[in-house]
Amino acid sequence: MLNKIGLIGGGNIGGVLLQELFRRKLAKTVALMDVKGPDFAKGKCLDIAEATPISKSDVQFEAGKDYDVLEGAEIIINTAGVPRTKRPDGTIPTREELLATNLKITDLVAGGIKKYCPDAFVVSVANPLDAIVYRLYQSLQPSKNKLMGMAGALDSSRYRYFVASAAGVSVENVEAMVLGGHGDTMVPIRSCCRIAGIPVEKFVDEETLGQLETRTRKAGGEVVGLLGVGSAFVSPAVAALDMVESIVFDKKKIIPTCVLLEGEYGVNGLFVGVPVIIGKNGIEKIIELDLTEDEKAGFQRSVAAVQKTVDEIKTKG
Ligand code: LAC
Repeated sequence: MLNKIGLIGGGNIGGVLLQELFRRKLAKTVALMDVKGPDFAKGKCLDIAEATPISKSDVQFEAGKDYDVLEGAEIIINTAGVPRTKRPDGTIPTREELLATNLKITDLVAGGIKKYCPDAFVVSVANPLDAIVYRLYQSLQPSKNKLMGMAGALDSSRYRYFVASAAGVSVENVEAMVLGGHGDTMVPIRSCCRIAGIPVEKFVDEETLGQLETRTRKAGGEVVGLLGVGSAFVSPAVAALDMVESIVFDKKKIIPTCVLLEGEYGVNGLFVGVPVIIGKNGIEKIIELDLTEDEKAGFQRSVAAVQKTVDEIKTKG
């Protein structure tokens, strides 16, 4: 158990995180910062605190609309930013279209982290994921192991779920990975997809696999379309917690994570999703896979898409 975990943003994803952080008892204190004022964060925490006697959790809450509540946090989970939402004409924006708005919010977030908990591990969830993590990196200049983006954990979970449904087996039996950027170019890695250790092709035919990989790439948008307002929030929160638990309990779990690449996978100076070992020191190791030629080409296309969004940040200064 840590002393303190800080949560930035108490919206849909933040709300699920808050509930789970208290239920899973990952830290003695959970601090919520949300700019919605004047007392939104306090109300959110009080509601949950009043359930702690029944839920047998002695987790303490700190809450406020200023960043000072994060003082001393050992891990920060950043959910601050606007989500995608379906337009009145029924179309779905891309995550990249959130860039201008979420960049401004991210700069405030970075200022708060720098001032009150500069040594914290940062797990960022806001979109467009890879570019927002890059911006945090520019502002915070953290050591490489401390800053990570949650995307591959969610995208891989979606891929696993679709494969399990198609194969008619338990989700627990399906291992899979999605790498690259967290946009529609993300790359489901079929060569890593196994059902109880057996290659997925034994259970699911080629055509169906292609269809569910396309569905995986667009899965975030599918939920946006169905919800009508906002984007997925339970699955992103649970995926972020998988990463946080691997740090808290030093699990050394291999999780596809958006991290700074410095030559790995032929990429230099960009944050992109690749498999890493996460433990008490954060990103402990980047694992380089032998991808097939198709997967390599898909990964390069995805890296190019991330680079394009990061270039927009650079021109915005
Ligand atoms: C999604 C958002 C959270 O993929 O990026 O649902």
